[in-house]
Amino acid sequence: MPQHRIIIDTDPGIDDALTFLLALAAPAEIDLIALTTVGGNCTLEQATRNALDVLALAQASHIPVAVGCALPLMRPLLTAAETHGSTGLGNAVLPASPVPPIAEHAVDLLIREILAAPGAVTVVAIGPLTNLALAIRKAPRIVQAVKQVIMMGGALRVDGNVTPLAEFNVYVDPHAAHIVLHSGMPITLLPWDITRAILLTQQDVETLLQVAGPIPRFVADTTRPYIAFHAAYFNFAGCSVNDPAALALAFMPDLATLESVYVDVEYTSALTMGKTVADFAHTTGHAPNVQAVVGFDTPRFMAMLLERFAWLARRVVEQGG
Ligand code: BDR
Ligand code: CA
Repeated sequence: MPQHRIIIDTDPGIDDALTFLLALAAPAEIDLIALTTVGGNCTLEQATRNALDVLALAQASHIPVAVGCALPLMRPLLTAAETHGSTGLGNAVLPASPVPPIAEHAVDLLIREILAAPGAVTVVAIGPLTNLALAIRKAPRIVQAVKQVIMMGGALRVDGNVTPLAEFNVYVDPHAAHIVLHSGMPITLLPWDITRAILLTQQDVETLLQVAGPIPRFVADTTRPYIAFHAAYFNFAGCSVNDPAALALAFMPDLATLESVYVDVEYTSALTMGKTVADFAHTTGHAPNVQAVVGFDTPRFMAMLLERFAWLARRVVEQGG
């Protein structure tokens, strides 16, 4: 039996899609309960279609997809077509899934699943935090019932990736991030400080392409413009695989070095909107509210990721994909 019951709250998004593939490539470790979608990298409608289509490609349409919030709590939606392409999945064009999303709203699914198995469900939050914030407001008991939240977001000691100070997931809905960070939930925070250096290279993609089938082709098509974007915008030698690294912490926690720290979010100043302020120096006197990832074993993670992708690619072919 897989040990880790996981809900992925997501705005797919290229690296979000790679996260679903990693979850499906870890059947011994992960019981993927559902994907819950949110507007972010692309619109909610597109994000939901992408989630369904990627699951279908990986022959995993039995995993429910619940539709969540289209817009942030207070601010207009900012999408990221320059990073993820106009569809959210780079150059990939996928067959449409025959399966629709489930009728239950993402916020209600989060609440129901967390309360149904107290202490068992991990939420891997890899998009703006709108759904999780509303779930906390609607059913505060989930704070005690959730096993943990693994959140990809924030820029603690480095420049942001969407403004000089802010990271995308927090910037898009800073009010929601504020609610989640101050909720009392056990949170592991994987910030851009760490993920920007976790790079999937074109060489990695070429190696994966030696395995036949739709999964390697999808990874190649979806990451091609993402790799080009990271080269042009950040001068990186590959694309940052932020979100899969967050999922990996659910079943390989020893990849990370953690530090307990108090983190707050700016949501009033136009100039510094979405900045995550981390009190590493203990100047505020506030108790820590997250376990921040301050170190990460990137070589071990990348080897694992590529091995799992190759395994999934073979399995999908064997199953007639
Ligand atoms: C985060 O923003 C999104 O563009 C990515 O999918 C990731 O979740 C990185 O800042
Ligand atoms: Ca994401």
